[in-house]
Amino acid sequence: MTNYNFLKPYTLRNGVTVKNRIAMSPMTEQSSFENGAITSDEINYYRLRAGGVGLLITGCANVNDLGKGFEGELSVAHRSMLPGLTRLANAIKIDGTKAILQIFSAGRMSNSKVLRGQQPVSASAVAALRPDAEVPRALSSAEIEQTITDFANATKLAIDAGFDGVELHGANTYLMQQFFSPHSNRRTDQWGGSLENRMRFPLAVVDACANVIKAAKQPFILGYRISPEEIEEPGIRLADTLALVKQLNQKPIDYLHISLADAWGSSIVDKTDHQPVFEKIQKVIADDLPLMVVGHLATPTQVEKLLSTGVEFAAIGRELIREPKWVQKVMAGDEKAIRYTFSLEDLDELKVTPPLLNFLMTAFRRGFPLSTDEHQIKTQ
Ligand SMILES: Cc1cc2nc3c(=O)[nH]c(=O)nc-3n(C[C@H](O)[C@H](O)[C@H](O)COP(=O)(O)O)c2cc1C
Repeated sequence: MTNYNFLKPYTLRNGVTVKNRIAMSPMTEQSSFENGAITSDEINYYRLRAGGVGLLITGCANVNDLGKGFEGELSVAHRSMLPGLTRLANAIKIDGTKAILQIFSAGRMSNSKVLRGQQPVSASAVAALRPDAEVPRALSSAEIEQTITDFANATKLAIDAGFDGVELHGANTYLMQQFFSPHSNRRTDQWGGSLENRMRFPLAVVDACANVIKAAKQPFILGYRISPEEIEEPGIRLADTLALVKQLNQKPIDYLHISLADAWGSSIVDKTDHQPVFEKIQKVIADDLPLMVVGHLATPTQVEKLLSTGVEFAAIGRELIREPKWVQKVMAGDEKAIRYTFSLEDLDELKVTPPLLNFLMTAFRRGFPLSTDEHQIKTQ
């Protein structure tokens, strides 16, 4: 079947038309040089996955040196990164695929080893609830302003490198989320305390990046990724997120991306609430702001079902690692050729680097079946 609705184009608020509703979800390969410069291995990995998807979102790139979260992370912190970022944008912009650079700061999800002796930073001096988490130091007001400027400068660099957009990484417990979270943000100044104050930093980042985009010669996509809930006590609850979405509705962003382990997942806090989280967000999101949903999507049928609910974009992560030509095979009516398992024999062909393989085999092993596994993905 080749007449899936997910193959239809979509025109964003800024007038840019995306050729279909499939996005490659941001996934770091942890394979950049030590200074965050892109490697040829990464360029080849992305090039292989470009051309089919409407949007290809890169793995996270840090906007400043203290924002680095792990080894092998891409950086957009310095102008010296421009040549490598330009190569990356060019490798992705094949056959109309839009190249989106995900920009972020890891905040307290880093450590002094990765930061070469420096203490990680966050909204407040509160360690994350995970083994071996270091206590970060709270950013000063001047540093907060500088970090906002760093996001804006990263956006400018992405424009200059020829990207079609940036995605602000406000999810997965990193710095933008840390300001929004009552767990990591215990500040008593204008950047913390009330829900309104906890939104101030993420919204200021949006404004600063939007201002840079306004001055650009061409329309440039601004996406925002959120994690709707935290299990920490105190932590972000769905009501907080719905309030944030209402604020984001009024900002010049072009899509909202919800980071979910399972696209159809319900609250991870209130186990009695069985409504999918994306449906709750659909109720408050502006009509002209498209929603992107991710989480264990693998087959065309699964993607079509999700989009039949009115969700505008499906982001696919690990399935596009296994099957770089997913969209092309669907368009050719060659669905039987789509790979749903990963064979270690295919590492080279799939341009999967050793650090990426290691990450997949540890943190992301669930939902990443190997050809030798007993339990495989249901394709119906
Ligand atoms: C190897 C790997 C790296 C990832 N890196 C990022 C990242 O850089 N930024 C981000 O927002 N999410 C990252 N994620 C999360 C994915 O974007 C996605 O939300 C998750 O894999 C669930 O989607 P899936 O079930 O389709 O794989 C990563 C996931 C994987 C598997």
